[in-house]
Amino acid sequence: MMKYFFVIFLAACMQFIYAQQGGIVEFELDTRKIGAAVQPYMWGIFFEDINFGADGGLYAELVKNRSFDFPQNLMGWRVAGDVRLRSDNPPFPNNPVYLQLSAPDHDKRRTAIDNEGFRGIGYKKDETYRFSVWAKREIPAESQKLVVELINSRNDVIGRQELSIDDDTWKLYEITIKANETDAKGRLRIFYVGQGSICIDHVSLFPTDTWKGRKNGLRKDLAQALYDLNPGVFRFPGGCIVEGTDLATRYDWKKSVGQVENRPLNQNRWNYTHSRHDFDYFQSYGMGFYEFFLLAKDIGAEPLPIVSVGLACQFENTEEHAHVPVAELGPYVQDALDLIEFANGPATSTWGKVRTEMGHPEPFDLKFIGIGNEQWGKEYPERLVVFIEAIRAKYPNIKIIGSSGPGPDGERFDYLWTEMKRLKVDLVDEHYYRPPQWFLDNAARYDTYDRKSPAVFAGEYASHDRDNGRENNYLSALSEAAFMTGLERNADIVHMCTYAPLFAHIDAWQWKPDLIWFDNLNVLKTPNYYVQQLYGHNAGSHVAPITWNKKPIAGQDGLYASAVWDENEKCFIVKIVNAGKEDKNIRINLNGARRGAVFTLGDCVKMQNNNLQAINTFEQPFGIVPQKTTALIDGNVLTINAEGQSFGIYKIK
Ligand code: AHR
Repeated sequence: MMKYFFVIFLAACMQFIYAQQGGIVEFELDTRKIGAAVQPYMWGIFFEDINFGADGGLYAELVKNRSFDFPQNLMGWRVAGDVRLRSDNPPFPNNPVYLQLSAPDHDKRRTAIDNEGFRGIGYKKDETYRFSVWAKREIPAESQKLVVELINSRNDVIGRQELSIDDDTWKLYEITIKANETDAKGRLRIFYVGQGSICIDHVSLFPTDTWKGRKNGLRKDLAQALYDLNPGVFRFPGGCIVEGTDLATRYDWKKSVGQVENRPLNQNRWNYTHSRHDFDYFQSYGMGFYEFFLLAKDIGAEPLPIVSVGLACQFENTEEHAHVPVAELGPYVQDALDLIEFANGPATSTWGKVRTEMGHPEPFDLKFIGIGNEQWGKEYPERLVVFIEAIRAKYPNIKIIGSSGPGPDGERFDYLWTEMKRLKVDLVDEHYYRPPQWFLDNAARYDTYDRKSPAVFAGEYASHDRDNGRENNYLSALSEAAFMTGLERNADIVHMCTYAPLFAHIDAWQWKPDLIWFDNLNVLKTPNYYVQQLYGHNAGSHVAPITWNKKPIAGQDGLYASAVWDENEKCFIVKIVNAGKEDKNIRINLNGARRGAVFTLGDCVKMQNNNLQAINTFEQPFGIVPQKTTALIDGNVLTINAEGQSFGIYKIK
């Protein structure tokens, strides 16, 4: 008997010593104390037309400067023969410039134009492309036609069709052309064949296979990548582009709806690239507010539009006169009210009618609106209050989001938070672009937030590994995963979170890191993408309390953890990040279960990499992806081997 007790005692001592050495870690999960609701829109996405995110990216148009209204009217085009710019009696007055193509004099070359696309045009073998053009006969002749050619990067024709222009008034012509080769850097070439002359405008080329097969549609692979995140909220259209380089170039949603040909061109706030200042970045508004609302609906996310508060980008404009005086805010406030009507109003209302005519009689069920992006100073609250009063009076159920400025702390931030409380906004948008260590150090950031305040919207965040070229490396993803346990634990006060920015074209970016990279043919999901996806698919419905030594697990010994209860699946979902190098043996005691309750293990996944600088590349896109893993449940104890540098998700039914 003595011998038996001695063995037990020895085993207990060994376990104690092992635990002291960091061998076994004991977490407690109280299965009775289901806490605050996790908002169904907790994990979402933030879209901005930066890095060719819309034009040249998600918006599937392949022709750059399709209506010849860039300030340099032929930017993106090469022309030969008799090609003239015109703007008299244009078919689309908001985009007035069009081209006249005439039969060249006998000593000139053939009349032709060719477009370079957005850093090339991506063609896929056997896919079809819809070419469309508005045209009319200017000087009629017997046979007047366009020969349209898809060209590869070696200048070979890989698809060809002819189109007769047969009307003396402006008309839309459409043909489809099949590509017989794949090429990421193709061009579009158009010859004019015939005597006399014709006029053309809005020269467009889309893949026919767009997201949901829509005309004027979205690139399918990129939209699918958004859908696959299972986002709960979709913030759009920016970012700084909401504010504009100046007020004239702010995102004006009213210009982004209605007939696509007549949406006026806007200079993009990000009109430069990382490598050169070639100023070819414009917003066609082809992907406008109607398309944004539709996309939000398609991917099952709450739409969250942000509108201008009358302040031009404050990074670019320090002088008071760059902004709208408070007394003259009327039209801006009206824009916000009209936007709510556009989204939710009946078909009989002015703006509900516009939505209906565009194809969506049902309302979009808008619940949130953001007023201003990254604003600061007293200029902001004194304008915001005007919007709040007008919106509350007309639409009391719409939740209003205010800004806490461009950084997560400091005087500006504190001042704005005080003001947001005073103005009683519903949510406060916080932005943090910080190094990985900041994310690791701040997992407890919201543990001490005032619970009587407006809720938090982490509207733009990303871990910037500045020492390593701001790559979307594993370290940045792991540190975000760790920080996000703190967002989840505090879901009573943190109601929404959106990583930023969303997209970047590999040949035309201004900002990194970014969630999704792409070229003209492929999509590349970063490790950060998979972290967001794991949260998006494992959001649960309520916070569940998980502790270590009675404290939240927010970085002690490199460990981070949070847990949720999922009312649909009737399971707990535990998220654990081990940011340290060494494996950790973790026991989670599932306390408080009913007598006779049996815990079983559901699906478990993990991300792990020994190399913190590892990235996914176009050559090796699946280097860092979630993988199935497992754990052990014995009675009410879940034992996990949390490998060094890992993020794991464990379901307990
Ligand atoms: O996401 C890129 C930019 O970062 C956004 O436009 C702006 O809001 C922030 O400064």
